[in-house]
Amino acid sequence: MSKFDEVYNRSLADPEGFWSEAAEAIHWEKKWDTLIDDSNPPFYRWFAGAECNTCYNAVDRHVEEGRADQLAVIYDSPITGSKKTFTYRELQTEVAKCAGVLKKHGVAKGDRVIVYMPMVPEAVISMLACARLGAVHSVVFGGFAANELATRIDDCAPKVILSASCGIEPGRIIAYKPLLDEAQEIASHKVDACVILQREQQTCDLIDEHDYDWVSEMATATLADCVTVAATDPLYILYTSGTTGQPKGVVRDNGGHMVALKWSMKNIYNVNPGDVYWAASDVGWVVGHSYIVYAPLLNGNTTIVFEGKPVGTPDAGQFWRVIAEHNVSVMFTAPTAFRAIKKEDPKAELLQQYRMEKFHTLFLAGERTDPDTLHWAEDNLKVPVIDHWWQTETGWPIGANCMGIEQLPIKPGSPTRAVPGYDVRTLDPETGEEVGRGELGAICIKLPMPPSCFPTLWNAPERYKEAYMEEYPGYYQSGDAGYIDEDGYIFVMTRTDDIINVAGHRLSTGAMEEVLADHPDVAECAVIGVADQLKGQVPLGFLVLSAGVNRAHEEIVGEVVKLVRERIGPVAAFKSATVVGRLPKTRSGKILRGTMQKIADSEDYKMPATIDDPVILDEISDALKGIGYAK
Ligand code: COA
Ligand code: AMP
Repeated sequence: MSKFDEVYNRSLADPEGFWSEAAEAIHWEKKWDTLIDDSNPPFYRWFAGAECNTCYNAVDRHVEEGRADQLAVIYDSPITGSKKTFTYRELQTEVAKCAGVLKKHGVAKGDRVIVYMPMVPEAVISMLACARLGAVHSVVFGGFAANELATRIDDCAPKVILSASCGIEPGRIIAYKPLLDEAQEIASHKVDACVILQREQQTCDLIDEHDYDWVSEMATATLADCVTVAATDPLYILYTSGTTGQPKGVVRDNGGHMVALKWSMKNIYNVNPGDVYWAASDVGWVVGHSYIVYAPLLNGNTTIVFEGKPVGTPDAGQFWRVIAEHNVSVMFTAPTAFRAIKKEDPKAELLQQYRMEKFHTLFLAGERTDPDTLHWAEDNLKVPVIDHWWQTETGWPIGANCMGIEQLPIKPGSPTRAVPGYDVRTLDPETGEEVGRGELGAICIKLPMPPSCFPTLWNAPERYKEAYMEEYPGYYQSGDAGYIDEDGYIFVMTRTDDIINVAGHRLSTGAMEEVLADHPDVAECAVIGVADQLKGQVPLGFLVLSAGVNRAHEEIVGEVVKLVRERIGPVAAFKSATVVGRLPKTRSGKILRGTMQKIADSEDYKMPATIDDPVILDEISDALKGIGYAK
C-alpha cells in the first residue's frame, strides 16, 4: 500500500485518532470533550468543549517559541512601488494595537467586524485583531460594489468597519470611502464606527464621531490580549455567491479550522516552519483567508501580501521576481494568472532574469487547470505544478496531490485524489446512488466532513440544510459535477447550479439576472457563462425587451452593463449582452441556459426533447454570431 493510501485510509477508518493527533500541533487553552459532536446532524461541531485562540496560535505563540525575529509578513506592492516587512514580534504588536482600537470602539467576543480593504498588511492585521478578541470578521473583496457591501452589512450587523481610503487597480484608483458611505446609507443596520487607513495615493474625508483615522487610533491604542473562545465559536463569515442576489455567509469555526489548516501546510503543500509561502490571491477570497493569512502563520511561515497583478504591474515577470527576491518555496495562485502571463510572455523570457533557488512547487486552484496551462508552467518552471480543488465552504483542499505525504502521478485535468479526511463520492442526480468509476455524477462528500468545513451559514441554518445537505441525505453536495476514475482521481467538470468561474472568482449568474431584470426596458433575461481564453469564463446576457420599447439596442446593453458594475461590481466582468426576441424554454417554462451556452461556445448540442419551439435556437445562434460567438 502506498504511503498516501495508508494515511488516507486511516483518516476515514479512525477519524478520532487521525484528527486528535493532528490537533496536537495546536495550542489549546482547554482540550475538547468530544472530538466531533454529531448530536444534531447535519450540524457537526469539531473539538466541542475545547477552548483556544486562533490569533495566539498564529502570532503570539511563535514569538514565545523562538520566531520573534523571523519575518511573518512581507508586503510587496509593485503597483505602488512599496515594500514593508513585519517580524512575528512586530506583527504581534500591531495586531494587539489594532485589537485595542476595536475594543475601544466596543468590539468584544462574538461581535462582527467588516474588513473592506485592499491588499495591504493592515488587512491581515485587522483579521488577526478580530481573532484576538474573539470577534468575527467578515472580509469583503474590494472589487464588489456598494450594494454588495450593504447586503453584507445587513446580514452580519457589524459594530465596526475597518477600511482604507482607496484601492489601486492598474491605471485607476478606486476610492473606497464613497462606496463605504453609500453602502452604509443603503443598509438598514447602522455601524458604530469606521476606522480608515488613509493611503497616500488618495486620502478621503472622515465624518466626525463616525470615522476614525487608522494611524492616530493605532498610535494611542492600548494593547489588547488574546481572548479565549470556544473551538466551535465562529472565527469569520465569508460571503460567497449563492444562486440568488443574497450571498451565503459561510461560517468558519476556530478549532477545526486551525487543525485542518496547520495539517495541510506540511501534508499538502510540503512547507516547513520558517519557509516563505506565497498565495497570490486576495484576502477577500477564501484562498486569501486560508493561505495568505491563517495557514502560513499557524505554521510559522513567512507569508507574502502582494498588491499587484500577474501582468501589467509593470510586467509579466513579477511573479518570478517575487519568488526570487523573497526566497519563496511554494506559490499558490489561479490558473488564469498563468494564462495572463503566458499570453504576454509566451516563451517565459522574463523568467531568465531571476534565480528561484528555493522554489519547489506551484499550486493552482480556483478553477480547473487546463492542460495547456499546466504544461506551460511545468515546462518553464521545472517544478511540480499541482492542481487542487476546493471551495469557500471547506476552507481547504478537498482534492489534491498531497506533496508532503507522497507525490502521486499527475493526470492533467484532475486535482488528483480526495485529501485525507474527505470521503468524496459521485452520485446519480436521479437516484442518489453512487455512479460507477468514470461516470459523471454530482460530486458529494459523505458527512461528517473533516475539520474546517463550514458548520453552518450565518443567520441561515435552514438554507445550509436546503442548499447543501438535503438533496443527497447523508452527503454534502458540492455543487460541482464530474467523475472519479479507476485510480480514484477526481475530475471536476462543471457546476450543477448557476455559478460561473470568472478569472478564478466565483460569481452567480442568477444574481446578475436579478440586476438585468431591474432595468425598466427588460421584460425577461438570462445570463450564461461563456468560454474565455484568459478568464476561463465570462458572463453573457440575453435581454428580451418589454413590448413597445424601441430604443437603440446598444444603448440598453450599455445601460445594463453599467448597472451590473454598479450593483455587483467590476469583478463580475459583465461586459456583453445581446437583445433577442424570445428565450428558448422547455414546455414547462424553464430557460435552456445550458443549450444557449453550448451554442455560444460553438459546441455540439442535443436538441432538448422538452423544448417549446426549436426555431428559437436559430434566432439565438444568429444573435450570438452578431456579437462574435457561435462561430
Ligand atoms: N478592487 C476594485 N476593483 C477590482 C479589484 C479590487 N480589488 N480586483 C479586480 N477589480 C476590477 C478590475 O480592475 C477589473 O476592472 P475593469 O473591468 O475596469 O478592467 C475587473 O474588476 C475585473 O478584474 P479581474 O477579473 O481581476 O480582471 P483583469 O482583466 O483586471 O485581470 C487577471 C485579469 C487574470 C490578471 C486577474 O484576474 C488575476 O490576477 N487573477 C488571479 C485570480 C485570483 O487571484 N483568484 C483568487 C483565487 S486563487
Ligand atoms: P470558491 O468557493 O470561490 O473557492 O469557488 C469554488 C469553486 O471553484 C468550486 O466549486 C469549483 O467549481 C471551482 N474550482 C475551484 N478549484 C477548482 C479546481 N482545481 N478544479 C476545478 N474547479 C475548481
